[in-house]
Amino acid sequence: MTMMLKVDPLNPNEETMKKAAQVVKRGGVVVFPTETVYGMGANCFDVNAVLKIFQIKKRPTNNPLIVHICDFDQLQDLVVDSASRKTSVLKTFWPGPVTFIFKKKSAVPKEVTGGLETIAVRMPSHPVAQMLIELSETPIAAPSANLSGRPSPTREEHVVEDLYGLVDVIIESGETPLGIESTIVDMSRDTPVLLRPGAATVEDIRKTLPDIKIPEFVVASEMKPEKTLAPGMSYRHYAPRKPLVLVINRENLDTALKKYPDAVILCSLEDSQSFKDRHVITLGTLEQPFTIAQNLFHALRTVDNLPQRHAIALGFEPRGILFSVMNRLRKAASEII
Ligand code: TXA
Ligand code: MG
Repeated sequence: MTMMLKVDPLNPNEETMKKAAQVVKRGGVVVFPTETVYGMGANCFDVNAVLKIFQIKKRPTNNPLIVHICDFDQLQDLVVDSASRKTSVLKTFWPGPVTFIFKKKSAVPKEVTGGLETIAVRMPSHPVAQMLIELSETPIAAPSANLSGRPSPTREEHVVEDLYGLVDVIIESGETPLGIESTIVDMSRDTPVLLRPGAATVEDIRKTLPDIKIPEFVVASEMKPEKTLAPGMSYRHYAPRKPLVLVINRENLDTALKKYPDAVILCSLEDSQSFKDRHVITLGTLEQPFTIAQNLFHALRTVDNLPQRHAIALGFEPRGILFSVMNRLRKAASEII
């Protein structure tokens, strides 16, 4: 049985939230909204609860989870080094959509980190996430609340579609405001490394971490990273259940349109004008690129629910948030031309 709890995203009812926190305390699995996407969480120090997450999600056990905290005291319980040395960097981005990787304390179960000696930590800014962590009185390990391989959930209906009946609680709180997962920065090495572009833009990260390295696999999805650096990045992600062609070189668009005469088109509002005789899913306007990120995962799920057998996505200039969007589109694509 899954308990459904509805709360206001900005001003969650504390009594309702206490019910969810009780479930975390007793070793259950709770789906909750964050500013990026919905997460499915459990007490990070409870090995059985953490293992349930992997089972429910059908996630490989070597793919580590992000641990969510509500204050800097909780960070001290998780990481060995650096927390104090790097506090000013962390304070620039937290609470918010950036995940940092540090060396972990031995008290953190290895199940959480997929056997790695490092741990990914994030302090979300969403009031519901913050209140859940606070009332649960423990950091919460949580991956995105989708079945492994499916697009991350940005709406209640996505969570219900994937996880109803499988988790103990679903906290419903409307659409997640940013709609794309957190940016992940590895701080456990000499120089910071970007492992996943996300809701915080690379340009923003660079203002505080000018020497950040951007590995090739972040830009080109064809590249597979070394397993221990970014275990999660070697899996195909966000994949719609039908073939998605990502057109990067516009000269190839006509070929794609001819090859897939029934294909649904995913593109910007500006481009949508050119496909009068097609089923078009408009992601948003180039003038407000954050809306494109916000709508992306819903669009990928919509593609699956339409009768057409193929989809064609038009690539974006990979700048700002659209750099992160292109990373996800590349991972979702079955073909890039
Ligand atoms: O916005 C987000 O980050 C959402 C919300 C719920 O917080 N969470 C999320 O979690 O996207 P998940 O599990 O779907 O993605 C976490 C990624 C995985 O690719 C995982 O491999 C990577 O973070 N990761 C976690 N711990 C790591 C570590 N110690 N070293 C390298 N990568 C790590
Ligand atoms: Mg995920």
